[in-house]
Amino acid sequence: MQPRKHLLGLEGYSRDEILEILDHARTFRAVLERDIKKVPPLRGVTIANLFFEPSTRTRMSFELAEKRMSADVVNFSASTSSLKKGESLRDTVENILSMKIDMIVIRHSATGAPHYIARRCDSIVINAGDGSHEHPTQALLDLFTIREKFGEVEGLKVSLIGDILHSRVIRSNVLGLKALGAQVTLCAPATLLPVGVENWGVKISHDVEESVTGANVVNIMRLQLERQGSGYIPSLREYSRIWGIDTERVDLMSENRLIMHPGPMNRGVEITQDVADSEDSVILEQVTNGVAVRMAVLFLLSPLRREVEGD
Ligand code: CP
Repeated sequence: MQPRKHLLGLEGYSRDEILEILDHARTFRAVLERDIKKVPPLRGVTIANLFFEPSTRTRMSFELAEKRMSADVVNFSASTSSLKKGESLRDTVENILSMKIDMIVIRHSATGAPHYIARRCDSIVINAGDGSHEHPTQALLDLFTIREKFGEVEGLKVSLIGDILHSRVIRSNVLGLKALGAQVTLCAPATLLPVGVENWGVKISHDVEESVTGANVVNIMRLQLERQGSGYIPSLREYSRIWGIDTERVDLMSENRLIMHPGPMNRGVEITQDVADSEDSVILEQVTNGVAVRMAVLFLLSPLRREVEGD
């Protein structure tokens, strides 16, 4: 398989490419169970984590993955940077890159920001979430979690429910789930579906009960309150009543089932407390698996590996 230089999104990734990442993640997941959770593959590699938007899980997960792989790590946070003094994204990134950075992990509110950086530098770029576009490592960790539980993603009934309009997690999940052969349903109010969603090649539903009935996996998307304009939903209470996942709705799923959420959760809005903390929930397992998946991505894209393979 031709190795890729960057991970900008799951668009165009084949089943075999995704399974290669998930197989490596399984190896690194085992490393995380050891007493000493550190391995040497990224020794001598310098990685910058550039977070222009808030993050808890992705940022800590990448940093942990990098340190577990023995990389040298520097962190950049927009809120404490010279962006506050008016410096542009381009100047900020060019200054950071002039410090000889091998790999960049970037989260930005602008769609395409990682692609912009990748075109302008020699460093390897990993997208940690760009606007409402893609969040490929979140989708990979979701796929990993599903595969480890069921053994196989192909043929599973997976419903993705919630604020699909603003979700970058959804776009990457749909691409990954389709590549691995899952039966995917998207369920949301019409106001929270993106233009052109009918061309995504998945089932669309506006009926939560219908979309959860018989499902093996329900992955619940956060209502992105910070990105809401007016008029998307009548009220939080209405949204929760009509679109929220509670135990009655979980009972309609297959007995062989998982409840997932990428976080952060709005408990009591898109998911009830009971469901979030239930035995069916793998929400914290997703977070644990995220470190292993990011270790796999960093390993596969590492400049040292590319040197060995003569790329
Ligand atoms: N799932 C996710 O991207 O969470 P953070 O925004 O905390 O990174």
